[in-house]
Formats: sequence, structure tokens, C-alpha cells
Amino acid sequence: MGIMSDSQLQIPTITLNDGTEMPALGFGTWNLEGEDCVRAVRSAIEVGYRHIDTAAIYKNEEAVGRAVREAISAGDVTREELFITSKVWNNEQGDQEVQQAFQKSLKRLEMEFIDCMMIHWPWPQRGLYLESYEALAKIQGLGQVRSIAVANFYPELLREITEATGIAPVLNQVELHPGFSQADLREAHDEMGIVTEAWSPLGRGDLLEHELIRGIAEEVGKTPAQVILRWIVQLGCSVIPKSSSRKRQLENGDIFSFELCDEHMQAITDLDASGGRLYQSPLEFPGEVRS
Ligand SMILES: NC(=O)c1ccc[n+]([C@@H]2O[C@H](COP(=O)([O-])OP(=O)(O)OC[C@H]3O[C@@H](n4cnc5c(N)ncnc54)[C@H](OP(=O)(O)O)[C@@H]3O)[C@@H](O)[C@H]2O)c1
Repeated sequence: MGIMSDSQLQIPTITLNDGTEMPALGFGTWNLEGEDCVRAVRSAIEVGYRHIDTAAIYKNEEAVGRAVREAISAGDVTREELFITSKVWNNEQGDQEVQQAFQKSLKRLEMEFIDCMMIHWPWPQRGLYLESYEALAKIQGLGQVRSIAVANFYPELLREITEATGIAPVLNQVELHPGFSQADLREAHDEMGIVTEAWSPLGRGDLLEHELIRGIAEEVGKTPAQVILRWIVQLGCSVIPKSSSRKRQLENGDIFSFELCDEHMQAITDLDASGGRLYQSPLEFPGEVRS
């Protein structure tokens, strides 16, 4: 391992239902492409992130792979210390399609294995989510993916794919932020041993101006982003904020040396009453299948 600088983050891990250890806080890469993505991922690894989230649809797997190779060459990290996740996009659902999509992701990343591969959206109208998840299970059997998971699934489908394959996804990556704490889904995940992973935790930046969040941040001497991310990990979830800036990457990762009191936790969770989902619903996205 490379020499640790004083400013390097220390991020705890969560044990997944297949025994794998995953850093609780990861680095989101949506909206980062090309050189900007290489620079941001390289910086994230330098400051201490070990879990990187990409997807075929982000069109940045090559850039993520390059950043990882550069970090390994520089001696900052080994491949084994990293937890790399990617996702199969909607247009590649189906048995053969998922197996081919996985190989294409592997090739773009230039990696020998991916730590965790997900089905990006269930797309219930299309009806291929089970076949797609079964394809991931087959790939897992071959050893090129360590853990298999889903994103944007809901309890009924989680039970269906788990019963059919005998393999519960290690995690479900879902929209979760102040105003949308996903209490029922988290409870279902807990029953099934599935980790809840929060996407768009900061509401893509919009929630940082929220009055209640700003008030708590001032009270506890942290930034609004740190309060939100701490609330999410303290709920027991994994979280994957994205930032192109090294300073904000460090800020977002520095949430493991303080705790929010019960009152502050509850006050943020209570924002559900006036909040709601901000982005696409998995019941409706991407929608009816066109013939
Ligand atoms: N599975 C899915 O369907 C799905 C859907 C959406 C997202 N995701 C994943 O989840 C990750 C995170 O979600 P997201 O990227 O949509 O949104 P996000 O992490 O909630 O917010 C990112 C935005 O907030 C800004 N930001 C980050 N940290 C900040 C800080 N400390 N102070 C001020 N501004 C800050 C960033 O700007 P700067 O870059 O300028 O710092 C960026 O504009 C994605 O990158 C992706 O990996 C998955």
C-alpha cells in the first residue's frame, strides 16, 4: 500500500450477505467523463476512497479503469483494496445480453473482475429483470464478478429474484436523501439481509440549501453535506456521493468521527412528511415497451 498522508480518509466497511467487505462510503461517478473523470477518480483514491461506482450508461468505464490503473501504478492502492461497481443498462437486459454487457464493461474497465455488478433498473413492463439477474448469478459462478446486486428494485421484485435464484442481492442502490428516507424499503432490506445504498444523497446538490439541514450543520459545526451523509450512514446505509473537487471529496468522506444525536436524526427523517421522490420512479421508468 502507498504511503498514507495525514489527510487520508478512513472509511469503515460493511459486511455484505455474501461475506464480502464493502467500504460504506463510495465515490459516485455519474456526470464525470473523459479526463475530468480520470482526474476526479484518481483524486478520490488519493484521498482515501476505495469504493467506486460506475455504470455502462455513464460512458466513463474506460476513464474509471484508467484512473484505477494509474493509482495502482503509482503505488497508492492495490486492485484488491478497491471495490468497483458497475451496472447493466436497460437496453441490455436478457440472458445473453447481460452476459455480453458484462464482458463489455470488463473490457472497457480493463479489469479481470468487477467487485459488484448490478441490474440498473428493473423495468417491470419489459419483464426481463429475473432473467437478467439470473445471468449475473451465472457470471458470478464463473468468478468474474464477486458480488451481484440490483438498483431501483422494490420488495416484491427483490423477493421474486431471491426466491428464484437462491441468491439475495448484496445491495439495492436506490434514491435516498432527506425528504425521501425510504423507511419501508429499508425495513424490507433489513429482513432480507440486503444493504441499502443511497444514490443522489445530496439531491444532486439541491438539498444543501435546506434550512433544517443548514441549521443542524451550524449547530454541530459540520457542513450541510456532512450532515446529510452522516444521517444516511447512521441510518445503516451505504452512500455514494459524487464530487469533481478534491476538497469536497474530502469533506464528504469525513463523516465517521462524529455522530448526530437522536433528535437531529429524527428531525431529518421527518422531512419525509414534506418531501418525496425527486427523480424517476422504478414503477414507471423507462416505461412501456414500444413494439
Ligand atoms: N442507480 C441509479 O439509478 C443511480 C441514479 C443516480 C445516481 N447514481 C449514483 O449515485 C451517485 C451520486 O448521485 P448524484 O451524482 O446524482 O448526486 P449527489 O452525489 O447527490 O450530488 C452530486 C452533486 O453535488 C455536488 N456536491 C457534492 N459534494 C458537495 C459538497 N460537499 N458541497 C457542495 N456540493 C457538493 C456535486 O458538485 P461537484 O462535482 O462540483 O462537487 C454534484 O453537482 C452518482 O454519481 C452515481 O454513481 C445511481
